Amino acid sequence: MNSTKYIPALKYEWLTRFYNPLIRVTMPEKEFKTELVRQANIKENHKVLDFGVGTATLSLMIKDTNPSSEVNGVDVDEKVLEIANKKIKKARAMIFVTKYDGVKLPYSNASFDRVLTSLVFHHLTAQQKHNSLVEIKRVLKPNGELHIADWGKASSVLMRSLFFFVQILDGFETTNDNVKGLLPAYIEIAGFKKVEIKKNYSTIFGTLTLYKAVK
Ligand SMILES: C[S@@+](CC[C@H](N)C(=O)[O-])C[C@H]1O[C@@H](n2cnc3c(N)ncnc32)[C@H](O)[C@@H]1O
Repeated sequence: MNSTKYIPALKYEWLTRFYNPLIRVTMPEKEFKTELVRQANIKENHKVLDFGVGTATLSLMIKDTNPSSEVNGVDVDEKVLEIANKKIKKARAMIFVTKYDGVKLPYSNASFDRVLTSLVFHHLTAQQKHNSLVEIKRVLKPNGELHIADWGKASSVLMRSLFFFVQILDGFETTNDNVKGLLPAYIEIAGFKKVEIKKNYSTIFGTLTLYKAVK
């Protein structure tokens, strides 16, 4: 199967190594990722997938708060996975990180209790958003849960204006549906039920939203 085109963490490959410090300084990263993990209500021995694992910050937080869980991370970018593997090794954590082609997730049907994903969907075109959600649903167990943190409908004119910085960096094609508040519709069209907006954060780049959905 052909690999799809993708947008690296900070649009350009040479910027990827600056991703961690930039996000840490400019975003309430710890706060919203902690809340996403709390919201996911991960239980003993749950199998968890971090979709678009990036440098593994979220995966490490999941493993830290849920040591008995099996944490897997998947991403399309080899370079970002190198950074992830270094961080995982340094933390002496057991997290399984895999590269994939952006088309078919390398896991069998109904293998995960939870899928968590942070700041990935605004990197995906409409077709990729749909395909990724269908694939995530395929690998979730019945009643398994999807928990997404990503840019959402702007909560004010100020939030809408600030989001232009993200759009200039990451492109308008992949980010427009986020800021129009269309992610819940994508999630429902992919076949998920009980789609909910759990929380909104006002950040210096716009409104960041936490979503929950059930297979
Ligand atoms: C802004 S970074 C977020 C990384 C990490 N989840 C975090 O919150 O720090 C976006 C990530 O999405 C990944 N990505 C882009 N296209 C993807 C796709 N089609 N499937 C999975 N991951 C993708 C990028 O390689 C990058 O690591």
